[in-house]
Amino acid sequence: MKLWGGRFQKNTDRSVDDFNSSIRFDCRMYKQDIRGSMAHARMLGKCGIISEADAKLIQKTLAEILDDIEKGLVEFEVDAEDIHMNVEKILISRIGDVGKRLHTGRSRNDQVALDIRMYLKDEINNIRDMLISLEKVLLEKAEDNLDTILPGYTHLQKAQPITFAHHIMAYCQMFKRDIERLEDCFKRTNVMPLGSGALAGTTYPLDRYMVAEELGFAGITENSLDGVSDRDFAIELASCLSIIMMHLSRFSEELILWSSHEFSFIEMDDAYSTGSSIMPQKKNPDVAELVRGKSGRVYGNLMALLTVMKSLPLAYNKDMQEDKEAIFDSVDTVKMCIPVFTRMIATMKIRKENMYKAAQGGFTNATDMADYLVKKGIPFRDAHAIIGKMVLYCINNNKAIEELSLEEFKNFSGIIEEDVYNEICLEKCVSERKLPGGPAKESVMKSISNLKEHLASLKQSL
Ligand code: ARG
Repeated sequence: MKLWGGRFQKNTDRSVDDFNSSIRFDCRMYKQDIRGSMAHARMLGKCGIISEADAKLIQKTLAEILDDIEKGLVEFEVDAEDIHMNVEKILISRIGDVGKRLHTGRSRNDQVALDIRMYLKDEINNIRDMLISLEKVLLEKAEDNLDTILPGYTHLQKAQPITFAHHIMAYCQMFKRDIERLEDCFKRTNVMPLGSGALAGTTYPLDRYMVAEELGFAGITENSLDGVSDRDFAIELASCLSIIMMHLSRFSEELILWSSHEFSFIEMDDAYSTGSSIMPQKKNPDVAELVRGKSGRVYGNLMALLTVMKSLPLAYNKDMQEDKEAIFDSVDTVKMCIPVFTRMIATMKIRKENMYKAAQGGFTNATDMADYLVKKGIPFRDAHAIIGKMVLYCINNNKAIEELSLEEFKNFSGIIEEDVYNEICLEKCVSERKLPGGPAKESVMKSISNLKEHLASLKQSL
């Protein structure tokens, strides 16, 4: 018989059992479910709602069940619907009537809200750790490439010279914000819902603060309806994870481009590339492509969660069981992507010469050429127009700006002197951009040290 079977005269149809059951995917919360039940039992005992002896026996048996699950000795039943009732059923099978007292003052509605919050809190920490490791690898790459000049792009057209360190540090800023977003999401997840009951709390004098403290929550939910029906913490996490994937997919896209023959800015390590079953010459950046591709399912999960929750009347509705597969899949996907992405970055080779060569083409020093005129007193707009003409001349004569003779320069402006060559060389274009946030070595070194300091200041665990 079902744990809730009292008012029923018929068994549920087999197809409904299968349809209704969530054990297939919520079994992964077994640890959180049992820890939550142990805390609930201890509190029930302390508050005199059940006897201390019963509370002790329940806790001891739950610990044994946890152990058995971990040893692979427990088989969950589809008929028992979900992880909550599976655990309770096993408990009752082991200690009979005492086990039946565990669910006093509790509903599966607040129980599942508790479990998922506990589960996601752990995963937020795990993903945060992974991002921190990624940041450290990126910082190393940046430090190795402070003088590695490459073209910066806008519209995927060569724009101005920057350094590879500067480019890498741009991603570091994104992942830094991703870490902050996770930390922020953690705060709203870190609230304890038990005591909300099914929707209206309970008449038992539960000590909600005791449970919150024992389970490591910062506080308790303040409204029982909200406590059982809020899933915005999960949506928020799905959104944080989507943004992480968006960043990873932009980075992946660049790595894919850069490892093409046309760019040849990097070469992936053999261990992080794959071949073709037909074309013997191929070395494909599959890891980066898969990371880029997997962003799709993570965005999809966010949309699924938003849609599941849309228009749901208060409080709990079974629709909400659909939250788990979506958020679990996002968590799993991101946890799969970040470590392999990190190792791929750590092992890739940087083709500094090719980056430099690429920066030499495409008139990446045209802005600096205009700025040269500005420094000699010409208003910027006029300088822009003059250099525009100069670039057109260069295109027609197949020359780079720095390849023009002084005579040719003077045809565009008499103000131009011999010093122009030094002023528009790539190294100078980069080193003069030394304002905070710029690509010059000193600026990038400052942002590297800022980030290192920030990482060192982070709490080990949230
Ligand atoms: N398996 C359910 C879920 O994931 C647990 C809560 C069920 N509550 C209920 N009243 N049917 O949402």
